[in-house]
Amino acid sequence: MPSAAIDYARQNSSRFLDELKTLLRIPSISTLPEHNADVFGAATWLAEELKRIGMENVEVIKTAGHPLVYADWLHAAGKPTCLCYGHYDVQPPDPLGEWKSPPFEPVERDGNLYARGAVDDKGQMYMHLKALESLFQANGGKLPINVRVILEGEEEVGGEQIAKFVREKGDRLKANFALVSDTELFAPELPTLCVGLRGLVYTEIEARGAMTDLHSGIYGGAAPNPFIALAEIIAQLKDSSGRILIPGFYDAVKAPSEAELKAWRSLPFDEEHYRQTEVGSSRLTGEPGFSVLERTWARPTLDVHGMPGGFTGAGAKTVIPAKAVAKVSMRLVPDMDPTKIFEQYKHYVESLAPAGVSVEVRLIHSGEAIVIGTDNPYIQAATRALKQVWGKDTVFIRSGGSIPIVGDFERHLKVPSVMMGFGLPDDNLHAPNEKFHLANFYRGIDSIITFFEELGK
Ligand code: BES
Ligand code: MN
Ligand code: MN
Repeated sequence: MPSAAIDYARQNSSRFLDELKTLLRIPSISTLPEHNADVFGAATWLAEELKRIGMENVEVIKTAGHPLVYADWLHAAGKPTCLCYGHYDVQPPDPLGEWKSPPFEPVERDGNLYARGAVDDKGQMYMHLKALESLFQANGGKLPINVRVILEGEEEVGGEQIAKFVREKGDRLKANFALVSDTELFAPELPTLCVGLRGLVYTEIEARGAMTDLHSGIYGGAAPNPFIALAEIIAQLKDSSGRILIPGFYDAVKAPSEAELKAWRSLPFDEEHYRQTEVGSSRLTGEPGFSVLERTWARPTLDVHGMPGGFTGAGAKTVIPAKAVAKVSMRLVPDMDPTKIFEQYKHYVESLAPAGVSVEVRLIHSGEAIVIGTDNPYIQAATRALKQVWGKDTVFIRSGGSIPIVGDFERHLKVPSVMMGFGLPDDNLHAPNEKFHLANFYRGIDSIITFFEELGK
């Protein structure tokens, strides 16, 4: 693959990395209001960088939430148009004590770059910008195809503003396909395209008992406890074999095709290795009769993320809290409708409220599952490019995670997504010590350059 753009990327690789580190130092945590200015700062930093590399019509688009960043370069007449998508917001870094180096002070160790957002998604989003810069530099200020860039700052909190933008201003994002680098390789050195994501319904259940917190000695035995109420409710959401007990929950579930299941069976997957090195629990759980890949990619599930309320400090406090909250989410698969699922769930949870406790069920955000067909020229060109760069045939996988906007690209913009991600299964997304394997950062840039050159032929 002798390409002048790849040569340029090689020669500038250490600067690329230094720039990424600068971006990673901005704690753009979208869910914490005290970081709103940091999220904005990351957006303006990216807009400046897009201008610098040669993109046009660069704009930080203010919204009711965090801003979007837009740019384009549309002078490759007769060539396809790519919509490059990425998100510059990150998840909170806690628990801080578990990090070997501070989350917003990026450092290299053993060929990896450690920082919150290193791989999800600042590092991967930045590969797009560096591929574009290399192409501009190597081709006299021109790109081989037309490109629009849209970056969002609230993917990690549901992506409401970009969804609104796509619905209302979709014509500004007109393209033939979207390129999304926010997923993982199935295994190290194995070029991977992700063609399916689960949907998500994220909720809170608030339980209220007494009118105020009470002394648990004086009132214990007479006053209802909202945590125990939540425990009773949660215990009736899922049985011990992993089956969700909400009536009607599985009605719309569409199973993967026999061909897809067959392809998954030939992926290099060792369940015991996965249990030990990725999960690290004494056993795996979930529905019997389904493989781990089916359970995480093609079956819905339900999880509890936290139960704020009451006393959680060190030591003991004898209190019956007046209220307690459980954060509960459900991952959805095709063809489950998030609105319908939320209604069924809400109705069921309300019916489980024990005497003396009132419950309120709130929707935080939701998004549909998506499966993308592989028989389009963009996925085909991507597999050719990956073969050139990685020397191997691409595997097609689904992922259990969610990127809500990919469904909107497909359904509203009628644009298929090429999900070409370069994370590794042990990159610790959303967890302490998130990292990006640097070889994958550089190879990702080469892959995107080659992909665009392939499409420009
Ligand atoms: N990049 C992830 C999703 C992902 C990770 C897809 C790995 C495939 C492989 C994304 O940033 C993410 O974490 N999304 C959230 C969804 C959101 C609505 C909170 C998720 O899946 O929890
Ligand atoms: Mn992401
Ligand atoms: Mn994420």
